Amino acid sequence: MANGKCAEEQDEPFRNIWAMCQPFTMTSFDRGLALFRGVRYIVENRIPGDFVECGVWKGGSSMIAMLTLRHFKAANRRFFLFDTFQGMTEPTDVDIDVHSQPAKDLLCSAHVAKETVQIWAHSPINDVRNNIERTEYPPDLITFVEGDVRNTAPVARTKSPANSASSRGYAAAPREKTRVAANPARPRLG
Ligand SMILES: C[S@@+](CC[C@H](N)C(=O)[O-])C[C@H]1O[C@@H](n2cnc3c(N)ncnc32)[C@H](O)[C@@H]1O
Repeated sequence: MANGKCAEEQDEPFRNIWAMCQPFTMTSFDRGLALFRGVRYIVENRIPGDFVECGVWKGGSSMIAMLTLRHFKAANRRFFLFDTFQGMTEPTDVDIDVHSQPAKDLLCSAHVAKETVQIWAHSPINDVRNNIERTEYPPDLITFVEGDVRNTAPVARTKSPANSASSRGYAAAPREKTRVAANPARPRLG
């Protein structure tokens, strides 16, 4: 599966999807393929629900999901895309890597403007909109939720976007933000 190769014939459609989305995601080929398979599983098994991604950066992961839905003629689900669209927020004490290295140290060592340093993951909302438009996914089904997810997720929950999420991205928002964003739909994900 590695090195850009799809071992199984039913994964073949992912080749073109990956070629289109790869420039707009930090995720690897294998993880992109896993996302493709996950979305296909949802469609094939008629699992209801919307899609939520928390931390979309340039939009590539959601683009994979959207193009997969289009490929399987199932582009009828809503997408809720949460991000500051101004890059990572400041890490707190609970944000550490697998080696217990504080994210503060990592990010603060990148002491340059957010716009110029990839580690801060800055991607303006208009750029993301343009990227997402390439998928030709129905625009009325896509909601951009701008702001710190610690503030926007609880509000969005009361307006019910994540009430029946069938898939979601935890894609690399720091731990505290991920916990906040995960809570609304977790009980419904089983
Ligand atoms: C590593 S990138 C996500 C990568 C992306 N999922 C992909 O497929 O390439 C992390 C994203 O989380 C966003 N982010 C970080 N902290 C956030 C917060 N507190 N609220 C909302 N978005 C946040 C950043 O702006 C950035 O776009």
